[in-house]
Amino acid sequence: MECAVLSDPRNAALIIRLHFHDCFVQGCDGSVLLDNTVTLRGEKQAPPNIHSLGGFRIIDRIKNKIESECPGVVSCADILTIAARDATILVGGPYWHVPLGRKDSRTASYEFALTNLPTADESLPSMISKFLLQGLSVTDMVALAGAHTIGMARCQNFRSRIYGNYELTSSKTIPSEAHLKDLQSTCPAMGGGESNVASMDYVTPNLFDNSYYHLLIHGEGLLNSDQEMYSGLTAAQTKEIVKKYAADPLAFFLQFSESFVKMGNITNPESFVNGEVRRNCRFVNAGTQKDSAA
Ligand code: HEM
Repeated sequence: MECAVLSDPRNAALIIRLHFHDCFVQGCDGSVLLDNTVTLRGEKQAPPNIHSLGGFRIIDRIKNKIESECPGVVSCADILTIAARDATILVGGPYWHVPLGRKDSRTASYEFALTNLPTADESLPSMISKFLLQGLSVTDMVALAGAHTIGMARCQNFRSRIYGNYELTSSKTIPSEAHLKDLQSTCPAMGGGESNVASMDYVTPNLFDNSYYHLLIHGEGLLNSDQEMYSGLTAAQTKEIVKKYAADPLAFFLQFSESFVKMGNITNPESFVNGEVRRNCRFVNAGTQKDSAA
């Protein structure tokens, strides 16, 4: 992870998000890492993931190293969980202890990737219910969304925001107006540039800090889903939490660590009993694949 993040800090963001998208689909069982096969429809192809997730080669490289030293012991799901913690530290975030022992699934679920993962234009109540479904509270959600202090989003995920209510929520200072112009030139109103990217935290894009929450208070969240947590009609509770983390970076770090462990402990009961340690994170071990779930 150190090599990967040194060569490009974006890699930290890719790995953290990959872990999140693994855990929200049948638990943290490495299902997101599986490639499509004739009999398995992978999660990578589902709309929230396609052309968007990355970091798979980093996980492959870590896995290869571990397999050559100590074959058949460390699951891909555990590797991804530790890599996400290390990614966080490497860009300035907190350290936490990672409980281990996850097993890798023999299935993936395209359908759950479609329904369980929150999207940029999701309403706040719907986002909250997706977290509650995973056993995560409103506080967990606001703290975990703080991962948007690093990483980038594609134009197609922020177009409706920058031509929608961005101007209304933002503080209209000279830097904020200049930033909006930049975003609009990255992401033209009439289409085109769908894959152009912008930092979600334009103040400290590669640093894991609490600046994301300051942006929300200034009305400059990049995604509708981000700004909803502060400015939405139903945001009374989430707004107070945003204010708390903006005022108290240590409180944010402590809660992020706690919530990240909680997210990393979402278990797939099926993999817990019938899981395996994959030899290659992209494929289930020969002869062990089950029919694709759902
Ligand atoms: C609260 C609900 C959330 C929504 C609606 C959401 C949505 C999104 C979207 C739309 C993107 C941009 C993807 C793209 O344009 O390709 C993104 C990026 C990202 N998300 Fe979230 N996210 C949420 C929560 C989380 C959580 C819980 C984490 C991790 C703890 C996370 C970590 C990231 C990271 C690190 C990136 C940047 C990835 C990159 O640079 O490629 N997000 N998210």
